[in-house]
Amino acid sequence: PIDSTFEENREKVDTHQGHDVWGPVEEPEQLGIHGTHVAVDFDICLADGACLEDCPVDVFEWVDTPGHPESEIKADPANEAQCIDCMLCVDVCPVDAIDVDAG
Ligand code: SF4
Ligand code: F3S
Ligand code: ZN
Repeated sequence: PIDSTFEENREKVDTHQGHDVWGPVEEPEQLGIHGTHVAVDFDICLADGACLEDCPVDVFEWVDTPGHPESEIKADPANEAQCIDCMLCVDVCPVDAIDVDAG
């Protein structure tokens, strides 16, 4: 599962679509964590898609990640500011790739 203490254990190495990217990143095999309030571990995501289907406010968008060993698309928290902390995405992801900091 995603390390929910990533903000202490990882470093911000980039930004993408207005959200933070937490390393280490070594493209294309290692992509790190995208987002902070809604965080998706791209190295765990295997493109199940339940988060995109179930999020009531469409926080997630597919992003292409060719060459990644788990999957060649990932659920990117492109609209994380719209999150209403319902926790559905956290519950439905089969590999626990998502952390939502509901405070
Ligand atoms: Fe969407 Fe709810 Fe997940 Fe927030 S917690 S990203 S609103 S499914
Ligand atoms: Fe990926 Fe989990 Fe969503 S595998 S596509 S983060 S449901
Ligand atoms: Zn991203």
